[in-house]
Amino acid sequence: MRLILLGPPGAGKGTQATVLSETLKIPHISTGDIFRANIKGGTPLGLLAKSYIDSGKLVPDDVTIDIVANRLSDEDCASGFIMDGFPRTIPQAQMFDEMLGKLDRKVEAVINIIADDSIIIKRLSGRRMCSCGKTYHIANNPPKVEGKCDVCNSSLYIRDDDKEETIKERLKIYHEQTSPLVDYYQKKGLILNFDGTKPIEVTTREILDSLNNK
Ligand code: AP5
Repeated sequence: MRLILLGPPGAGKGTQATVLSETLKIPHISTGDIFRANIKGGTPLGLLAKSYIDSGKLVPDDVTIDIVANRLSDEDCASGFIMDGFPRTIPQAQMFDEMLGKLDRKVEAVINIIADDSIIIKRLSGRRMCSCGKTYHIANNPPKVEGKCDVCNSSLYIRDDDKEETIKERLKIYHEQTSPLVDYYQKKGLILNFDGTKPIEVTTREILDSLNNK
């Protein structure tokens, strides 16, 4: 399946994408994770992306589209993908449609996870990350051992852009530049809406049921 996960920062896109990727056996492609891996590796892309990410702004469209095109050419994407955090602007969505069109492929569903700004601010300030990609929350989704990843036992860390001021800027950018994508995909009949404030496993079940019934 070729899926897009849409929703504001902290709605639970990464959390759901991890489970869906395992269940549906398709790769989870997070542009945020690709940028963070490049920042960690000190690459030119990482240096460029860092200034935007740390201030809560979007990385320019041309840069983002190039990294997605590169990733999509990998063999594991032949059977499908879950895009998490891409597209994030109308030009990105249009370029993505073109890119897939050239490969004679289409997006099959857009999973839109809905959550209010006030919930998001609370959630992101309690988020803890692992470098393996697993995400936790100190209250809602804690690791078995405090500060350690359940999967790889690495130490968990707080993302640089999870400071309250940066979260507010990310939400502002979401409402201005990303939320118009709901209408864009609605017009194509691809949107499936989910309440991101339900327990994680409930939302996962609802998404899988809805994909099965498509
Ligand atoms: P990115 O990494 O994509 O961040 P984001 O979209 O802001 O989303 P988050 O990762 O913060 O949240 P999420 O929805 O994945 O929530 P999560 O599952 O972690 O992007 C970062 C930056 O990179 C951007 O700001 C931008 O600068 C740049 N960038 C990335 N893509 C770009 C693009 N296409 N174009 C341009 N720039 C781009 O969950 C959050 C917390 O809530 C966790 O602690 C989790 O455990 C908890 N939680 C999840 N679900 C629930 C639930 N149902 N109930 C209770 N708690 C829950």
